[in-house]
Amino acid sequence: MKTRNKARIAHSKLNRPFHYHPALARPRTGQRAAEIQTFGTIVKLPNGLSETVCRASVERLNQLLADTLTLRDLYKKHHWQVAGATFYQLHLLFDKHHEAQTELIDQIAERIQSLGGLSYAMAADIAENTNIPRPPKGREEVPVQISRLLTAHEIILQQARAAARNAASLGDDGTNDLLVSGVIRTNELQVWFLAEHLVDTPQVIAQ
Ligand SMILES: [Fe+2]
Repeated sequence: MKTRNKARIAHSKLNRPFHYHPALARPRTGQRAAEIQTFGTIVKLPNGLSETVCRASVERLNQLLADTLTLRDLYKKHHWQVAGATFYQLHLLFDKHHEAQTELIDQIAERIQSLGGLSYAMAADIAENTNIPRPPKGREEVPVQISRLLTAHEIILQQARAAARNAASLGDDGTNDLLVSGVIRTNELQVWFLAEHLVDTPQVIAQ
């Protein structure tokens, strides 16, 4: 086709009146397609780490993610269900710890994604894979609530320290840094704040 003809056609399209196309505005809902990445696989990214190293870190990080998500929910359960003379103080403390765990969750999940892996996301997958014992649906006394939280923290800390050492030995310094500076430090601090509530000291008259 001659250039002049092409230009004429283009010009005439521009000058055509606009038409109403309802199909263009209709949302295409209910779509399904094959996954673009299967859980458990690694998509190699140019991050200077081998696929084997990424896979090892992703596996350990996903376990920590499942347990941290469970601990986060345990904090919210106790935030809502706490009872007794220390209600207000613990209600606030549990929520503060919940927020810090929520920040860690995002960091762990995004570390997994940045290693080319896939993070757990949904509650059913978390429930299937966490190592933290399931609490009853009902309400428990404060010392029991705190004891459950401390057990969860200890499980996470043991795993996080092993994972940090493993990441360092594999040269995955970013994962090591997240585990040491984020997960381990935060959990250790929260353990201290909780455990001090289980020391049986007199409130008014010294023994
Ligand atoms: Fe609240």
